[in-house]
Amino acid sequence: MNGEKITGLGHLVYGCMGLGGDWSSAPYGLAEIDEAEAAVEAALDAGIGIFDQSEAYRFGKSEAVFGEILSRSRGLRERIQINTHCGLGNGNGSGEALHYDLDGAAIIESVRRSLTRLKTDYIDTLLLNRADPILEPGQIASAFEFLRSSGMVRYLGVSNMSGAQIASLQKHLDAPIVVNQMEMSLGKRDWLETGVLVNHPDGSGHSSPEGTIEYCLDNSVRLQAWSPLARGIYTGRASTAKTPEEAATAKLVLSLAHGKHTTPEAIVLAWLMKHPAGIEPVIGTKDPTRILASRDAEYQASLMSRQEWYALWRAARGTNVPVPGQGTEPAGRSGRSRALVVDGVMDPVDRQNGTDVVNGTRRTLWCRKGRGVSTSSLPN
Ligand SMILES: NC(=O)c1ccc[n+]([C@@H]2O[C@H](COP(=O)([O-])OP(=O)(O)OC[C@H]3O[C@@H](n4cnc5c(N)ncnc54)[C@H](OP(=O)(O)O)[C@@H]3O)[C@@H](O)[C@H]2O)c1
Repeated sequence: MNGEKITGLGHLVYGCMGLGGDWSSAPYGLAEIDEAEAAVEAALDAGIGIFDQSEAYRFGKSEAVFGEILSRSRGLRERIQINTHCGLGNGNGSGEALHYDLDGAAIIESVRRSLTRLKTDYIDTLLLNRADPILEPGQIASAFEFLRSSGMVRYLGVSNMSGAQIASLQKHLDAPIVVNQMEMSLGKRDWLETGVLVNHPDGSGHSSPEGTIEYCLDNSVRLQAWSPLARGIYTGRASTAKTPEEAATAKLVLSLAHGKHTTPEAIVLAWLMKHPAGIEPVIGTKDPTRILASRDAEYQASLMSRQEWYALWRAARGTNVPVPGQGTEPAGRSGRSRALVVDGVMDPVDRQNGTDVVNGTRRTLWCRKGRGVSTSSLPN
């Protein structure tokens, strides 16, 4: 059961944080329920079967409108899985997160409130959201055992925890921790950078704890990525505040999407899903068009080449990947041109050189003023 994926369900997860109206205790109405229902229907149409909830989303209103949808749609509950988070200590309607709370009694009370709002009698996976520094693992073990044996919760997961924190907690539990949810996207890359910047001067600026991805992989803890669309910065969100790297990445995403006859959302999500950890993106848009635009992501992940994957990563980080002894250098500085055309994918920063992004065939790598290295000499 550890890390199980439900057969027949897609690997995208629908994040419900946007549902339920505004972030206040003001009551929701029919408009909010209808809006949420349209989003849930689009998610189901996109093949999504797992829905991510929290007592904290919209002060509990997200769970409440979801409960309304479940009562409207007979049989829906049996077709889906519901994750919900506890531990933020703000499920009492006040919306204030004054502290975390992973006391055993608080966990059980939080689940009871969630079940009432969701109008269901079980949660598929309960996620402990962040490591409460004064948590007592024995209390968590007893609380989960009570919830599991009484049928209120099936599985236990965590959110925003390092591999070491999960390992430490796991020692006290009889049941496996099956999910870790972390922010991961082309815009939030610490989890990836940490791995390649070991023993590298640029590594000191990265906060993601080393070994978390490896721990999850080795122990069948499914990795779920929250904010995987990076809130739309690469997929068409109108903004004047884009950095050059964000603008360049958005261009590359768009050109890849055109070239592959898919959507920018599918490309951005495919980039995460190509990672061998089997990352499950938790998409949070409530726009049915954008939800449906995500449905091609898993297929696109299966088609994405190593060169395309790296081109997206390089564009987002704004530098080449680190090379031992060389350090990284931002694009365009010191007269070094870093841009690449690899298997028809060209880094947008090099567009001024006149090669078409999608159809370009020039294969030059690591151009320093006038010096090029053929990609054919590089290992794949
Ligand atoms: N575990 C945790 O600590 C944690 C923390 C935060 C979130 N989460 C989970 O992760 C899910 C996703 O998080 P998220 O909503 O921050 O991430 P997201 O899926 O990266 O972004 C969705 C947000 O970006 C906007 N957006 C996306 N594409 C856009 C575009 N092209 N133009 C304009 N706006 C665009 C959406 O607005 P529209 O709705 O208008 O499309 C929505 O507000 C949440 O729903 C929640 O379930 C978990």
